Amino acid sequence: MQYDHQSLPAARGDFLRRYPSFAATTAIDELRAGDYARLDALGHTYLDYTGGGLYAESQLRRHQELLAARVLGNPHSQSPTALASAELATEAREAVRRFFNAPADEFEIVFTPNASGALKLVGEAYPFAPGGVFLLSYDNHNSVNGIREFACSKGAAATYIPVREEDLRLDEEKVRTALRGAGAAGARAGAPGPAKLFAYPAQSNFSGAQHPLEWVAEAQELGWDVVLDCAAFAPTNPVDARAIGADFIPVSFYKLFGYPTGSGCLIARREALARLRRPWFAGGTITLASVQQEDWYRLAPGATGFEDGTIDYLGLPAVTIGIEHLEAVGMDLIHRRVCALGCWLLEELAALRHSDGSPLVKIFGPADGECRGATIALYLVDPDGEPYDVYDVEAAAAAERISVRSGCFCNPGDGEVAHRITRADVESCFSDPRAAITLQQCQRRIEDATGKVPNTIRVSLGLASDFGDVYRFMAFAERYRDRPSS
Ligand SMILES: Cc1ncc(COP(=O)(O)O)c(C=O)c1O
Repeated sequence: MQYDHQSLPAARGDFLRRYPSFAATTAIDELRAGDYARLDALGHTYLDYTGGGLYAESQLRRHQELLAARVLGNPHSQSPTALASAELATEAREAVRRFFNAPADEFEIVFTPNASGALKLVGEAYPFAPGGVFLLSYDNHNSVNGIREFACSKGAAATYIPVREEDLRLDEEKVRTALRGAGAAGARAGAPGPAKLFAYPAQSNFSGAQHPLEWVAEAQELGWDVVLDCAAFAPTNPVDARAIGADFIPVSFYKLFGYPTGSGCLIARREALARLRRPWFAGGTITLASVQQEDWYRLAPGATGFEDGTIDYLGLPAVTIGIEHLEAVGMDLIHRRVCALGCWLLEELAALRHSDGSPLVKIFGPADGECRGATIALYLVDPDGEPYDVYDVEAAAAAERISVRSGCFCNPGDGEVAHRITRADVESCFSDPRAAITLQQCQRRIEDATGKVPNTIRVSLGLASDFGDVYRFMAFAERYRDRPSS
């Protein structure tokens, strides 16, 4: 197939025949033509939604109008301007509750700077202790991996469950065995026995693999507290916190609706949050502290005790606006559309060949659309199967205003398995752990020492993606046909 401009209408027709459900999503094409018009006006093909979502222009307008029409002060007082800000923060919290089905009798919504901030709150305050366990899947983001530092410093063990090389999925049996085995004597925080925490992503930000949400309840039955990282999942999949029942769900709002950045939240089950022990207090988190009685302070109850300092009170109304925007579009519609585009892209990439019949694309992760999101990790490879330099590919895409991501995406576990990088490889390259080197230097060092390329290209779709975007990526990839890699 030729992905040239003339073939676009026929390709679109073929796509619609293969994915008839897409036809019901034309409202999003209209939305893109208006609210996201800058994409086409500036000639951008944006394929990094897992990195960050895009905002609609109407979100900005509504936020600006709101700010221009109000006088808003720091909410930590009873002045009229403070009360106005507090009311807007309450509205944002209610919007988050509604969107994630996280009712107040069961859940606290803690505003944080981002998903990493939410994860750090859990990690630093979780009652890890000797005999306790932090169990996590290989395909977690580094902001989850980093919790192991808290666990280990308090004497708990950190244990990983590997992903399979062939599709970067977790083997259900291995997960069950680990849940039953690791820290079998432990218990959820607050119950007798050392506390144990299990963490996995609802969707890998590397491979797009989605894992069963039922593991949350299974793990809880076995005495685990559960962190379900929804940062990469929530932008294109409905999240029902009540139905899932996870103790802690972190998200970043910019990944959901692009604006504001610097705002996320921790959706926490009330009892789970109450069992955390914060290592410090700050302005805003306490009911009272004394300097004369320096071992005394009282943490404020609920979410307030976890929101350090002044919340982003001017940014939070934009969270309400962003959520209303997603509600107006409809998460089911977004999900359906992105699935259709992602499946088409996966199929076309897998079918792309050099003249000698050898594949032009190597996909890391699930090969079909079953239980996966539209986040696709790949190499473009030459007829001998050698990858084209990932940074060169990214630069070539950038020259055509195609935004893809390259690197390891803060997900070392998926990357190490995808590229068969062993512990010995890593150790041999980094014998001096204190040597300061950049990410690129790290990657080059592994490549030079082992011949393995620890570096990947990622294409990801989202709310404003359209058929033209995925088609343009195919046209870009096709230009590598029969090109030698060096
Ligand atoms: C699965 C996952 N978890 C956590 C994060 C961290 O998000 P943030 O950088 O917004 O804190 C990301 C970011 O890409 C992610 O994809």
